[in-house]
Amino acid sequence: MTGEPLYEGKAKKIFPADRADEYLVYFKDDATAFNGAKKGTIESKGQLNNAISAAFFELLAQAGVKTHFIRQVDANTSLVKKVAIIPLEVVVRNIAAGSLSQRLGWPEGQTLATPIVEFYYKDDALGDPLINNAHIAALGVATPSELAHLEAEGLKINRILTAYLLARGLKLVDFKLEFGRTGDGIVLADEISPDTCRLWDAQTNEKLDKDRFRRDLGGVEAAYQEIYRRLVLAKPIYKAKVAVRLKESVLDPQGEAILRALQSQGESGYKAIRVGKLIELVLEGDDLTDVQKKVAKLADDLLANPIMETYAVTVESFS
Ligand code: TMP
Repeated sequence: MTGEPLYEGKAKKIFPADRADEYLVYFKDDATAFNGAKKGTIESKGQLNNAISAAFFELLAQAGVKTHFIRQVDANTSLVKKVAIIPLEVVVRNIAAGSLSQRLGWPEGQTLATPIVEFYYKDDALGDPLINNAHIAALGVATPSELAHLEAEGLKINRILTAYLLARGLKLVDFKLEFGRTGDGIVLADEISPDTCRLWDAQTNEKLDKDRFRRDLGGVEAAYQEIYRRLVLAKPIYKAKVAVRLKESVLDPQGEAILRALQSQGESGYKAIRVGKLIELVLEGDDLTDVQKKVAKLADDLLANPIMETYAVTVESFS
């Protein structure tokens, strides 16, 4: 992007778009932490975050969340709807970390009984303080019903992202959202990326987000690349179910035993019972047909006994 931005933030620049109701967002490699006190650059971060954020916004739009995102236009830039940002950071937490651990002394890594939604007032001069509903009402930045909407959207987005990330081997520890007003209501805005989420490897708890930069842990670029690899480069993930049944001609002693037990208890209404098994698999694949084929082969080779059993495969997109 060339020319003068309309606005330059710590990680992004906003440029005018062809249409007056749209903006171009340019993702920079610059990184800051602690309200700008720590500064640096993360090689290729702009491109990686642009692509990662686009993947998240597309996922959320498919799940019915209204967002500002329209499309990626080049490596560092996306086209978005123009919004008036509500000056609140909506933070959703699943596992204690960062400022929550500091504030309450909860050890980092402790799973929370239920997700916690917090609001921070976006004001650099004040250092983005934590505020509650009463402060928000007094500040007049959002009405009580808007606030209830932001909280509900935060929790809904948390459910969608948690399942999606877990399928890709990542724990969503916490994340920050921003929303904006349009003529058409409130929409999710800003970005969702390793800058704005804590993402830990599900097996090792290795930090794969901006905490590597904040805390000088090294391997910052590699962590962003790894998230990009798992979310953008990897194939889509599907859930397959294989229902295995005994062929009609094969006797089913297990089903017979259940039937006899019921009948001996005086349950005379049951006439036949046959027992099968259901195998659920989560796997990656090119598309539904590819996964259907792979799983059918697995059922033929391993999951079902072709002499005695039949099977049926169903496949659906997984988060
Ligand atoms: P915190 O534990 O420092 O309050 O951060 C909570 C989450 O919000 C974490 O995923 C990082 C994200 N975050 C931002 O995106 N921008 C910020 O300015 C801050 C402080 C946190």
